[in-house]
Amino acid sequence: MTTTETLDYTKEIARSTAPLYDRVKTVIPEAEWPVHAPYVAAINRVKKERNAVILAHNYMTPEIFHCVGDLCGDSLALAKMAQETDAEVIVLAGVHFMAETAKLLNPEKIVLMPDMDAGCSLASSITGADVRALRAAHPGRPVVTYVNTSAEVKAESDICCTSSNAVKIVESLGVDEVIMIPDEYLAGFVASQTDVKIIPWQGHCVVHEAFTVEEIEEYRGMYDDIAVIAHPECPGDVLNAADFVGSTSAMINWVRTRKPKHVFMVTECSMSDNVAAEEPEVEFIRPCNLCPYMKMITLPKILDCLETLEPRVEIDEDVAMRAKIAVERMVAAS
Ligand code: 13P
Ligand code: SF4
Repeated sequence: MTTTETLDYTKEIARSTAPLYDRVKTVIPEAEWPVHAPYVAAINRVKKERNAVILAHNYMTPEIFHCVGDLCGDSLALAKMAQETDAEVIVLAGVHFMAETAKLLNPEKIVLMPDMDAGCSLASSITGADVRALRAAHPGRPVVTYVNTSAEVKAESDICCTSSNAVKIVESLGVDEVIMIPDEYLAGFVASQTDVKIIPWQGHCVVHEAFTVEEIEEYRGMYDDIAVIAHPECPGDVLNAADFVGSTSAMINWVRTRKPKHVFMVTECSMSDNVAAEEPEVEFIRPCNLCPYMKMITLPKILDCLETLEPRVEIDEDVAMRAKIAVERMVAAS
């Protein structure tokens, strides 16, 4: 590997990355491209040498999402794609629980996490011991666990869910009452869509809990025709004030199909950049709420992990075996 040679913005790098810059030119200033382009070219080359695939969550910045991501999507799509890929190495451009899910479904593959500290406030809100205590307090109630959790918590669960299949998963169990962890707001949203009684946990997402109804009203006052679409991790009053509620991919599809003139995507703001790059006729109105964990993933860290094949995600065998059952049940039910 001769990475140091290739990290200069040479004429050849400019030429070979020009089609990729074309995809993101409306959201990445021309002056910034010489910083990204050498990394983009090196990552795309090393990825082939390593027989690696990069799974990129919808919250990655545009130079990652559009220029090095091979398979992109929401948490459910990433889990399914992790299960289907033939690549020997998986790089998870997202947060730690997503890499753990990929490893659970592919124990024989190398799963790399560009920054092991890229966690999630929901995942850190609950432990395996908390789940055991909940079960003891509510005997006989199945535990439905949002994928934004550690493998240790998944191992204590009956089935997993994501924001795109939560209602379906809860109803698939055929019971009157379930424990749903750890997102209090997702649990509240599911409760509003089903007759099944939900016992929630008080975990919150640091990004989505910051949105307010006042903010939405302010934008509605500024643009008569604004569409407001929100992620179910937002507080209940914010969801009630929105025109549509869905997972990150459901929100993207909503914009792609409806093509509103103005839209406020009430979620992490890199996603608006990623959709804006594809939908130049839609104007995205947004306060920029960034996920501090997602933003730990950068091009230099992706290149570094591909070159060194470190750091690798490893899960204790017994935990992995039990957690995998909960994830596989979800994939089968959705
Ligand atoms: P999605 O499953 O909708 O992609 O959500 C993941 C996430 O972490 C949202 O904050
Ligand atoms: Fe976790 Fe929220 Fe970041 Fe999603 S946006 S990874 S839920 S902290």
